[in-house]
Formats: sequence, C-alpha cells, structure tokens
Amino acid sequence: MAPGPELNDTTLRLTAPDSQLRLLAEAIPQMVYTADAQGNLIYANKRWYEYTGSNYDQTRNLHWLRSVHPDDAETTRLTWQRSVQTGEIYEISHRLRRADDVFRWHLTRALPLKNASGEITSWFGTSTDIEDQRQASERMKVLLESSVQERTEALEIARDEAVRASALKSQFVQNISHEIRTPMSGILGMSELLSDMDLPPEAREMSNHILIAAGTLMGIVNDLLDFSKLEANKVPVQKSKFSLSELMENAILSVSSIVTKKSLNLEVDVQKDLPDGLVGDEKKIRQVLVNLLNNAAKFTESGDIKVVVKEQARTGDWYSVRFEITDQGIGISEEILPKLFEPFVQADGSITRRYGGTGLGLSICRKLVTVMSGEIGVESKSGSGSTFWFMLPLEASK
Ligand SMILES: Nc1ncnc2c1ncn2[C@@H]1O[C@H](COP(=O)(O)OP(=O)(O)O)[C@@H](O)[C@H]1O
Ligand SMILES: [Mg+2]
Repeated sequence: MAPGPELNDTTLRLTAPDSQLRLLAEAIPQMVYTADAQGNLIYANKRWYEYTGSNYDQTRNLHWLRSVHPDDAETTRLTWQRSVQTGEIYEISHRLRRADDVFRWHLTRALPLKNASGEITSWFGTSTDIEDQRQASERMKVLLESSVQERTEALEIARDEAVRASALKSQFVQNISHEIRTPMSGILGMSELLSDMDLPPEAREMSNHILIAAGTLMGIVNDLLDFSKLEANKVPVQKSKFSLSELMENAILSVSSIVTKKSLNLEVDVQKDLPDGLVGDEKKIRQVLVNLLNNAAKFTESGDIKVVVKEQARTGDWYSVRFEITDQGIGISEEILPKLFEPFVQADGSITRRYGGTGLGLSICRKLVTVMSGEIGVESKSGSGSTFWFMLPLEASK
C-alpha cells in the first residue's frame, strides 16, 4: 500500500485545536474513531454510537475487531496485524454489526499516529458504509450475467439455425445441379453428334450455337456443384503420384481452343530442377490451373500468357511449388482486388456483360488450394495485366 500522509502530535496540534477536530468528526456521516496502539477504542464519534447502539462505557476499551462479521474476521485481523507491524495505512472492506444485529459492508481505513521515534501511539480510523453501492453493483452484475447468458443462448440458437439452413441450401444446390447435369449431358452429346452430321449451313450454325450454349451452361452447373460441395466440406484430398509435365500439358490443352481463337501467345516455363514425379491431388491442381488459365485467356484480347512453375522452398523431399499465370489483359482495379476470391465477385457490370461467367471460379480455386494446404493470390493493375499465383506443398515421389 502506498504510504499515506504521516500524522504526528505536532501536525495535529499545529493544524487544528482538538475541539475543532472533534466538531469535524461529529459532523461527518462516517464512523470516526481513535484507538490506542493495540486497537482499543479511545474516542468514537456520534455516528459510531448510532450505528453500533453501544454507549460510551460499552465502547471504552472495546477492540473494534469485535464488531466485524465472523466471516470477515480473519482477513481483517491479518490486515490489521500487517499494518501494526509495518506502520502503513490500514484499509479493508468488511461487514460491521449494526445495533439491530444486521451486518452492513463498510470500507474501513486507519492512519497510524507515531511519536518522535517512529513508534505507533494511536490510530485514527473511519468506516464508510458502502452497503448500498455493493448491492447496486451486485444487482448490476447479476443483471449483466443474466443478460449475457440470454444473449449467448439466443446467438447459439441463431447460429445453429444458420448452420442448418446453410447445409440445407447447399444440399439443395447440389441436388439441383446434379439433376441438371443429366439432361445437359444429353443435350451436349446430341448437339455434338448433330454438328458432325451433313447439315445445311443454316442448321449447322444453329447446332453450333446449341453446342456452345450447352457447354457454357454445363460449366456454370459444374461450378455450382463444385462450389456447394466445397462449401459443405465434402471434397476430400486424394493424393497419388503424378507427372508435373503431363499435368501442365493437360491443363494447357484444355485452354488451347480459346488461346488459338484469340491468337494469344501461351508460354510455359517449368523450372528444370523440379522433380517431374510428385505426390498430390492432381485433379484439384489441374482444376485450379485450368480456371486461372481460362480467366487469363478470357480477359486478354491480345498479347502473351506466361505460365511459370518453380520451386519456392524445399525441405528434403518436400517442395513448396509456385505456379504463376501472368497475362497482359485488362487487369483488375484496386477496389475489387481484395474481394476477388470471394464467391460471385466480378469486376464492374460492363465487363461482366462482355465476358459472362458466374464469379465462382476464383472462390473455387481458393477453396481447392486451401484444402490442399496451399496459398493463392494475385497481383494486378487495372489495364496492365495480372499475375495469379498459388503455392502448394508437394512431395517428390519415390
Ligand atoms: N486474369 C484476369 N484478368 C482480369 N480480370 C480477372 C482475371 N481473372 C479474374 N478476373 C476478374 O475476377 C472476376 C472473377 O473471376 P472468376 O471467379 O473466375 O469468375 P468468372 O470468370 O466467372 O467471372 C472476373 O469476373 C474478372 O472480373
Ligand atoms: Mg473464371
């Protein structure tokens, strides 16, 4: 405890005559008393007699500890002992007995009065009734606790409902996409066969339109199905040995038609010292690559698309492999960049109308990369192309 103002005979005598101090002590609403070095009461103010209901004779030579609630007696005694030993201000909250045997909480403080050689000769004490404040703060605590509990329960119910509703929705989307895929396969297959037939030019053009539209629709349905499965954590990682060069070839092949149609220049650079045989979820890696390559081709009117695969770090047989797809396309504005990997996020309306799509591709990529314990990101500037990258931990196959 911080040392308080030192009291001694001289200061008391100098600052006020005894009678004035008494008057002051009688006037204040706290209990005020003086006690000898051992704690036996010498003087007590009016409030003391009112509160305790005792008279002067009963009070004289009474150790004030006897008014303390039995449950608080031990800590009160110990705190008192410490102050007697150290000569520091005594301060404690405890219950004191009132005349009607009701105990009320008080804050009791006492200052030691010392003689010239530093020995305590007596104590000056006050006890302030803090029962009402304590009750108010107890009530507040109970009120707060119960409202926090109510709120927590309400939130838990709401969360459970949201989880249930979200699971239902995701199941619904999965079922619907699944159901659409079956007739869509029929339409795709039949229009492909139709396109191969000897048709009059007008009919050929129509069947080609059907084929392209059916392909786009199938893509959207597949995205929806993938997204809702990933959302529901229903996509396990399936690891097996694969060849990095074959993976890259397949991925490039699936965008070759759009790349050729737009006369883009596609370049692939796989770092030589990366092992070709790796262990990982080849299907998922391909899906991410194809998605990013498709975007690069979709949002680039002319110029180069460059794919780089390189070792970012290595420990033993484990490689952190970085895939980078850089295009010279329209780029992405600063505002949209931070939200780009969230579902259904697309650049502004005019671009979306021009290029179509659902805005699900990148969120699927992020989910796929995340389930494979990897990272994905983008650097881009509006008007000057983009670099999408992802990094995956992959083990060299033995
Ligand atoms: N390579 C890129 N260059 C410019 N913008 C891109 C590129 N890749 C993605 N974007 C922007 O991010 C949006 C979301 O992409 P994505 O999730 O694949 O959805 P979608 O291709 O269906 O629009 C795109 O609509 C586009 O605005
Ligand atoms: Mg896309």
